[in-house]
Amino acid sequence: MEMTRREGLAAVLALATTACSGNYSSPVNSVGTASAIDSLHKLAKAKGMRFGSAVGAGHSGSGSFRNTGYASLLKRDCGILVAENEMKWQSLRPDPLSFNFAPFDEILAFAEKNNMAMRGHTLMWHRPQWQPSWLEAYDFGTNPATEAARLLTTHITTVTDRYRGRILSYDVVNETVMEDSTLAQTAISRAIGGTEALVDLAFQTARAQLPDAQLVYNDYMSWEPGNEKHRAGVLKLLEGFRARGVPVDALGIQSHIRIDTYDPSTGTGPRQEREWRKFLDEVVAMNYDILITEFDVNDQALPGDISARDRSVADYAKAYFEVMLDYPQLKDVLAWGMCDSYSWLQEFKPLRTDGLAKRACPYSADFAPKPLHSKLAAALQTASAR
Ligand code: XIL
Repeated sequence: MEMTRREGLAAVLALATTACSGNYSSPVNSVGTASAIDSLHKLAKAKGMRFGSAVGAGHSGSGSFRNTGYASLLKRDCGILVAENEMKWQSLRPDPLSFNFAPFDEILAFAEKNNMAMRGHTLMWHRPQWQPSWLEAYDFGTNPATEAARLLTTHITTVTDRYRGRILSYDVVNETVMEDSTLAQTAISRAIGGTEALVDLAFQTARAQLPDAQLVYNDYMSWEPGNEKHRAGVLKLLEGFRARGVPVDALGIQSHIRIDTYDPSTGTGPRQEREWRKFLDEVVAMNYDILITEFDVNDQALPGDISARDRSVADYAKAYFEVMLDYPQLKDVLAWGMCDSYSWLQEFKPLRTDGLAKRACPYSADFAPKPLHSKLAAALQTASAR
């Protein structure tokens, strides 16, 4: 059969895409095709779960829905998305009076067009360095508690009104527990009279707005040694929510797992599996659901060799998912980006001492699936149905 010039070009492009992307035009899960790539969301869905990722609204060379290569990964693997930055106050709130919804709206439109759900991240990232600078410098006036409550509730009602029925799960509060287990303080928490008052009001406002949505407290306490106090602080906060009757449904476990120290005997890094299970047991015993909200693997301390490094990252993640998937309360797993090149970890200090890029995500820079992708697929395949 003869090809037209245009068909010829299309065929060449398809081949090129296949070559550099690890066969991403191949049918998902086609049996017998050695290079077929499993859809992580399809595998999750078969178990009553969802798999998803963070995505941005930046230019076409970033981890954005505008990047066609990146968008293909999302379409293959994801049934749920979360905006990497576009719902944060720093992006939504240029000043005390206005809202800039456009970048987030574009991401939501992409998700809906592709039948993907979206999570809301976050209504209050409670760390001073992640507040807009105007808020940290804000003059709360003569009745600071009233003004702080007004600012917070206006923000939450405006956002939740706008996305009513379209976003069913919110990280209402992100990272208010410090690593020494105390609660973070910001200008708005001082103005309202304390961090508990602020976070309680955030959840109460969200619940009044959205009686049926999943309201999540999200944080990065993790299983590596050194996180003991952070975990204890999070448990204390969760206990306090229950004691005060604050409407919180789930703990978002960010899952930025990390190899800070290389252990040649295991090929990966140290972790406190027993203590981590105990932490999770305590969380679910308080009747919280759990989510993995921001999974990636910081390979900062692994030796440079790429194939050994990819294997170690995958093994470390496999061990993590073996524990996490034991909990039927876990139904949503979101990665903080699907492709190494756009991972926030490339800028997150400390960088690798050898100057190499981190290999934290399921896909490499050329959109080829890595061992991490197949280990995630295998973990989901062996998970029990929920
Ligand atoms: C990060 C983004 O990935 C970066 O682009 C941004 O500069 C800073 O925030 N925990 C969170 C996420 O809850 O919102 C953070 O995202 C990563 C750590």
